[in-house]
Amino acid sequence: MLAMEYRGPKRIRVTQKPMPEILHPEDAIVRVTRSCICGSDLHLYNGNVPDTRVGQTFGHEFTGVVEEIGSEVTKLKVGDNVLVPFNIACGKCIFCKQGLFGNCHEAAPQATAAGGFFGYSHITGGYDGGQAEYVRVPYANVSPTVIPPGMDIEDAVLLTDVVPTGYQAAEMGGIQTGDTVVVFGAGPVGIMAARCAWLFGAGRVIIIDKEDYRLEFARNYSKCEAYNFQEIGDPVLFIKKQTDWIGADVCIDAVGAEAAGNALQTITGRKTLLQAGSATAVHWAINSVRKGGVVSIVGVYGPTDNLVPIGNVLNKGITIRANQTAVKRHLPRLIEHVQNGVLNPKGLITHRLALEDVADGYRMFSAKLNNCIKTVLIPSTAGM
Ligand SMILES: NC(=O)c1ccc[n+]([C@@H]2O[C@H](COP(=O)([O-])OP(=O)(O)OC[C@H]3O[C@@H](n4cnc5c(N)ncnc54)[C@H](O)[C@@H]3O)[C@@H](O)[C@H]2O)c1
Ligand SMILES: [Zn+2]
Ligand SMILES: [Zn+2]
Repeated sequence: MLAMEYRGPKRIRVTQKPMPEILHPEDAIVRVTRSCICGSDLHLYNGNVPDTRVGQTFGHEFTGVVEEIGSEVTKLKVGDNVLVPFNIACGKCIFCKQGLFGNCHEAAPQATAAGGFFGYSHITGGYDGGQAEYVRVPYANVSPTVIPPGMDIEDAVLLTDVVPTGYQAAEMGGIQTGDTVVVFGAGPVGIMAARCAWLFGAGRVIIIDKEDYRLEFARNYSKCEAYNFQEIGDPVLFIKKQTDWIGADVCIDAVGAEAAGNALQTITGRKTLLQAGSATAVHWAINSVRKGGVVSIVGVYGPTDNLVPIGNVLNKGITIRANQTAVKRHLPRLIEHVQNGVLNPKGLITHRLALEDVADGYRMFSAKLNNCIKTVLIPSTAGM
């Protein structure tokens, strides 16, 4: 089968790989119908995630048709159209039982923090992902969800990560009616977080990035204010000025380890990897949230220490909430929001490419070319 393959930092290709096989009675084999490229893939692509192995197939956002099931799969049948959440979760461990599907204790036994993910490095289990024609889906009774009849497949594929992550970013912010919410990062996740902030009752939503086309997109899609941090001077001072010197009620970090905007962070976090990515956005979030406010982090960082102003967290009495998204927990509500037209996930999609062109897709998304927000890959075997 055809699959994307990692060859080293900024080097990927499409190659022929053996067909995946059922390795456990709870496995399913899924023929991919759509997959996406995510900001989380860029951390791998840029060589910033420990233990990313040559030969790995990325892709943790995909839909597909069930081709084969193991003897203990009861919740899916061959021919089902499914959306597959990016978390691989056993459904039975103490963390899964609490709904912490992003922190499963079984799916990535080597991991002390995150759980198992499709198409990521070996610190999250080393499972091959969905930027391919076929994928092995472990624990198929737990997370894969039959796409409701009538739902557009492009809406469904964004329910595997971006929509739940934007939603959870807003949820973890504990937004109260009328709150001012600032979102750092106007990628697909930040744009969705800004849109979801309104659902929780925000009174004002501001998004910050440096890409004008993304800011313009966010203004239209998320109906929020949008500012370029390269034009507003110090973003912390700017937010203070915007909020009567009080600070925002809630700040969301939807940037993560590849943040720009601070030379020290960039050198120590991205060039020399002395810390687990550049913590510029989380730094800005902590310093521009009000006393007693909430910082919600969905931007991804590695496991080691980061230069964050912990003294300000203490002295301002800030609550920090962060996690990998527990996709499965949010699906019932988010499927309803899509069906009722409250959320329009496919509106984020700007590019549709053949799987064969995956390398172009990464280049474009990484370099922010062609006004790219979200790219969907379509294998020739998709059949739809
Ligand atoms: N927690 C989760 O479960 C989860 C799920 C999906 C994605 N993520 C993470 O969310 C982050 C965003 O994902 P995405 O797909 O939107 O990625 P993306 O790369 O498209 O977007 C990131 C945006 O941040 C902007 N940016 C860079 N430095 C900034 C700064 N200092 N302040 C404000 N904006 C800045 C970039 O210009 C870019 O537009 C990534 O770190 C990704 O790994 C987390
Ligand atoms: Zn993703
Ligand atoms: Zn589990």
